[in-house]
Amino acid sequence: MKAVLASHNKKKMAEMQAILSQLGVEVLSQADVGVDLEPEETGTTFEENARIKARAVMQATGLPAIADDSGLVVDALNGEPGVYSARYGGPDLDDTGRWQLLLKNMEGQTNRACKFVSVICCAFPDGSEVMARGECPGVVAQGPSGAGGFGYDPVFYLPEWGKTMAQLTPEEKNGISHRGRALRRFQEEWEKTRNGTDQ
Ligand code: IMP
Repeated sequence: MKAVLASHNKKKMAEMQAILSQLGVEVLSQADVGVDLEPEETGTTFEENARIKARAVMQATGLPAIADDSGLVVDALNGEPGVYSARYGGPDLDDTGRWQLLLKNMEGQTNRACKFVSVICCAFPDGSEVMARGECPGVVAQGPSGAGGFGYDPVFYLPEWGKTMAQLTPEEKNGISHRGRALRRFQEEWEKTRNGTDQ
């Protein structure tokens, strides 16, 4: 089966492609099908935003479309940046600016518990969908370490590894990350609900 990935983020796409290929899904980018959509993420939950993105690309292409919505949820900041993780601090900040802002907003905080959340949604032209959520708990570090990954990875500390997410190899990250977990749940849901309907 062919499916279009709604994301433009190359690193996210690579992480998703690695797992989706195991499901026998031939993954196409928006560029492959001549579409360039960046739907507005108007939802207030990761589920709503993943559905908005997947449906928009499915409707534009007529093909099943897969979207992920993800972000960092910080307990001491009442769940911020949450669904606004990519837009935290406004459009002028890059990844580094965003985690610097996060560290600033966490100054003096003793409760540094946080989690990454990822929701994957595949919207099908017949109106059905497959959706799955994965979470990865961690701690907001006092400062950055590591050069791998992307986004908030350099300040996402994993106590059981004694490392930040940015210090893991891509395979180690996939093994424990919110996106890896969501993709594996997605695979289970897919096999339960799509079995026999895709060929
Ligand atoms: P969106 O899913 O495109 O709305 O963007 C999610 C944002 O959350 C990204 O731009 C990152 O800032 C952050 N994020 C999501 N997943 C990860 C991850 O695996 N590592 C670090 N940051 C992430």
